Amino acid sequence: MIPTLEWLPEGVNFLDQTKLPFEETYVLATDYKQVATVIKDMVVRGAMAIGVSAAMGVALGIDRSTATTLPNLASEVDLICKTLAETRPTAVNLFWGIGQIRDLYNELTSKNTPIVEIKKAVVVLARRLYDEDIANLRKLGAFGAALLPQQGTVLTHCNAGALAACGYGSALGVIRAAIERGQKIDVFADETRPFNQGTRLTAWELVKDNIPTTLICDNMAGYFMSKGRIQAVIVGADRIAANGDTANKIGTYSVSILAKEHGIPFYVAAPFNTIDLETASGDLIPIEQRAAREVTHVKGVQVTPHGVSIENPAFDVTPAKYVTAIITERGVLRAPYGESIQAMATGATVQTEFAIA
Ligand code: MRU
Repeated sequence: MIPTLEWLPEGVNFLDQTKLPFEETYVLATDYKQVATVIKDMVVRGAMAIGVSAAMGVALGIDRSTATTLPNLASEVDLICKTLAETRPTAVNLFWGIGQIRDLYNELTSKNTPIVEIKKAVVVLARRLYDEDIANLRKLGAFGAALLPQQGTVLTHCNAGALAACGYGSALGVIRAAIERGQKIDVFADETRPFNQGTRLTAWELVKDNIPTTLICDNMAGYFMSKGRIQAVIVGADRIAANGDTANKIGTYSVSILAKEHGIPFYVAAPFNTIDLETASGDLIPIEQRAAREVTHVKGVQVTPHGVSIENPAFDVTPAKYVTAIITERGVLRAPYGESIQAMATGATVQTEFAIA
């Protein structure tokens, strides 16, 4: 399995995704500030991986604290959570991961638990979230595989694979599950300018797994759809609003409209913790704006004229009306998403398909 991140006695070890596909090197974060930097600099990226990294960052910060009293530890924990929360704004999993450790910490401190026990407990939880991420994505994959054709080509955008998670992946997890079940699936991967997650990461991990993969430029999807060469689209998500509007990598919105125009199903695959019940609709999702340099430079070389203005939003929002289904580890959500999401949030689990009666 691709080791995206790992808790080690020395700290949290991250596969450096900025170096792929040329080098497989690791960055060891030995304190929470380094974890924050690793997330901000996209050494680790992808919603699920960001969520667990943030949880491990908080756990690492608490574990390495030299505080000897609970009040002193409390002010450190505030700073740790704040620092990690300020790394990237769009993927709600970041805040989920921080919240998971913080909730346990709050519970334990309210019972005056000794600091040494708090340290042990938060590390155990962070490591459990890692295992649960992979287990959830395998469940999600099984639900999603049933939606893919017995044979066909699936287009994906960005990287929602093992590299975007603790393993297996969400959108790519569905593809892996379908192939494990004997379906003959090949993949078209969008290159995903400007950070090239498709070129560098999706192509890398799929080829490594011997999954037939064709890389296309972002502006080629419509051409291949019009030629009948794509049977389904599947993408991940960074945040899904309570009404089903989905924030994902910039360019996803355009692909969803192309899919609609060509009558191709457009699936979103994401664990349930990517659904933000507090955010009513997609227009309220904060969109990260990244550095102009990602657009102006290719491998350190400027390819644009000096003086040109640059915009670089990292995500866009696909309205729920373009989403055929949202695949989670709890089952498959269908429109009307406002209702199906609420029902799933209150505990409904299904074997194959989730629908409002
Ligand atoms: O900026 P990134 O690489 O962290 O963004 C990741 C994405 O937007 C992916 O598309 C992915 O689908 C969401 S993470 C599973």
